[in-house]
Amino acid sequence: MSRSTESTVGAGRVARSGSPFPRVGLLALALALPLASLLLGCERAKDPTTASRTPAAAGDSITASPAAPAGGAAPAPAPQAHAEPEPAEPEEGVSARRVRWMDVEVAPPPAPMEKLAKAGVGLYQQNCQVCHGAQGKADGPAAGVLAVPPRNFTAGQFKFKTSMPGQAPFDDDLYRTLSSGIPAAGMPSFGDLTVFERWALVAHVKNLSQAIRDDGKPFNYFQKRPATTRMKLPAPPDAAKAQHERGELLYRKVAECIQCHGEKGLGDGRSAKDLKDALKNPIKPADLTRGEVTFKTGSRPEDIFRVLTTGMAGTPMPSYEDSLEEEDRWELAFYVTSLYRPIDPGEKTYLRVGCTSCHTIGKGKLIGPDLAGVTKRRDREWLRKWLADPPSMLATDETARKLLEEFLTPMPSYGLTPREVDLLLGYLETLPPAPETAGSVSK
Ligand code: HEC
Ligand code: HEC
Ligand code: HEC
Repeated sequence: MSRSTESTVGAGRVARSGSPFPRVGLLALALALPLASLLLGCERAKDPTTASRTPAAAGDSITASPAAPAGGAAPAPAPQAHAEPEPAEPEEGVSARRVRWMDVEVAPPPAPMEKLAKAGVGLYQQNCQVCHGAQGKADGPAAGVLAVPPRNFTAGQFKFKTSMPGQAPFDDDLYRTLSSGIPAAGMPSFGDLTVFERWALVAHVKNLSQAIRDDGKPFNYFQKRPATTRMKLPAPPDAAKAQHERGELLYRKVAECIQCHGEKGLGDGRSAKDLKDALKNPIKPADLTRGEVTFKTGSRPEDIFRVLTTGMAGTPMPSYEDSLEEEDRWELAFYVTSLYRPIDPGEKTYLRVGCTSCHTIGKGKLIGPDLAGVTKRRDREWLRKWLADPPSMLATDETARKLLEEFLTPMPSYGLTPREVDLLLGYLETLPPAPETAGSVSK
């Protein structure tokens, strides 16, 4: 079966599964402070009319999905009027939500790109450099602690886009990525920056996306392979009409997803071990059974349909746009959602809120303490108060104050609902005990 895998110059690097921060030791203060201030949203202009950043996204409503961009060389899809809000998530009471990639409202660029690019330089240093590096080479000081390395912009490949395989992303695709963030990969959302700031960053990222040709001359990927054609991303058909057996046949036999994603979708197919991305780094297929928390740009059928259509440039995940009919891509998308296994609502909350940006479980300190065994060292009432309102605990509680002395960054408040706090407490109780080397010393 023919597939169009993009494999010229790649961008993605090692995507190890499991905890997002597997290789963590003591983070140098030099790293902790800028990263933390960034995660906390210090010094950043707020635009209350737009989406919130991931960690602070409490209270966000998920906007209804605007119709997917039409096919053809369309300009940035105009923001659409919102239909009725998304039905409540399975576990109600979850306030911390983020806007999904496809649902980001794309406002038109407020100024010419050259002007925006100038403003983008400083904004990039402030918000992105810590991970993506000064020149966009994925070598910022925080790059090493992320499970999924940040994108190397100089390699010119982008996973999340609505342009044809082989083409650079549309500007609005980059704008979407910045706005929604990629929580499953540890990239925070920058949805609370103003429209101007986000477009300025898009312009600067495009400028960084350049390399040197064999003849020594520099070129820019966005000029060399411009986005000209929008993939056709229609609205989803009626889920009730999905044919499970057809989906399974496609998964196992026709499209051979099984080769990489495995019999049950666990990401353990025959070729899974040897997969490399276009930069020759090992990469793992997504665990489809945990799609609701592992998929990078959404787990609804329409999100999966988009991934199957565009592929993920620079990774072995192919585009099936020319090898599978639209209907079959829908069958597969529905089939993938049938593989989801229930995820503990506490864990879901933990991942959605973005606790992983600052905490590991059993891998050592990050911005905050290792949470392995935390329910052994703190009692439930303390933890409840802490999660509900860290700032007032920091102001009044001796243990909290000692923690702050050690970690130097105040844990922000997420405005969690009592139900979310309960869910999180339940989840923390399931965590393994602390390994001897990890965790906080202030007992
Ligand atoms: C905490 C680290 C971190 C910060 C800060 C960060 N990113 Fe990222 N970014 C990542 C990671 C990790 C990925 C790779 C995700 C993947 O490959 O799945 C990524 C990927 C991207 C991509 C590629 C998307 C694609 O389609 O492949 C873009 C564009 C991007 N980041 C832009 C930015 C910009 C602009 C900023 C600053 C406003 C920023 N990032 C800040 C970690 C970060
Ligand atoms: C050659 C190996 C390979 C094949 C074949 C393959 N995939 Fe993937 N797939 C991957 C890899 C690797 C990733 C992870 C890419 C990343 O996160 O950077 C992935 C990611 C995904 C994702 C997650 C997207 C997201 O938003 O994070 C979905 C869904 C998916 N694949 C579905 C499928 C389906 C359905 C098929 C068959 C039609 C398929 N894949 C075939 C390797 C493969
Ligand atoms: C921006 C970084 C950051 C985020 C995100 C974050 N925390 Fe924290 N957390 C900290 C820091 C730092 C501390 C140590 C106390 C301090 O300095 O405020 C801490 C302390 C804790 C403690 C006490 C640990 C101990 O050893 O007593 C728990 C429990 C905790 N956090 C849970 C969570 C949960 C659950 C989430 C997600 C809802 C979360 N944290 C999100 C930074 C963060």
